[in-house]
Amino acid sequence: MTRRRRIATRFALAMPLLAGAVGASELDDRIAGANLKRGQLFYMQCKTCHDLEAGLPHRVGPNLNGVLGRKAGSAAGFKYSDVLAKSGVVWDRETLDAWIRQPAALVPGNAMAYPGFASDADRAAVIAWMLANGADGAAKP
Ligand code: HEC
Repeated sequence: MTRRRRIATRFALAMPLLAGAVGASELDDRIAGANLKRGQLFYMQCKTCHDLEAGLPHRVGPNLNGVLGRKAGSAAGFKYSDVLAKSGVVWDRETLDAWIRQPAALVPGNAMAYPGFASDADRAAVIAWMLANGADGAAKP
């Protein structure tokens, strides 16, 4: 192989990385490999304010059943801050991850009194646990 071909090959391999698909798939991988027990443990923090099971009332925070795919600030019957309701955020794995990392960075001035946490693995674990327990809106036993 000529030096030029080698460089061309290396560039072709790097292309998907440059295309920016990395963030999402890395997060998907983290979620797929997450420790659900740890996620459940971490969700205890969220649970002081958020139920996840369908049909339970809102608490300090809105019920998070079916939150994935929902526009931020749109659960009926919960009084959101204006900034969250008008944020234009739609909840998916990436926005949820950013929110749990640092709510005030994603939507400055929001009313969720929670600082977030920095561990990528722990956030993935919480998201995985939420997905397995109703955050995707599927009925759970
Ligand atoms: C101290 C109470 C409290 C804790 C703890 C808390 N939240 Fe919240 N959460 C809220 C409140 C209040 C809002 C509404 C914020 C607003 O209106 O600006 C909210 C909003 C949200 C939303 C947006 C819901 C929607 O319908 O748009 C998500 C998602 C969310 N929280 C996830 C979590 C997760 C996951 C955790 C744990 C890692 C957590 N929250 C911890 C109080 C809390």
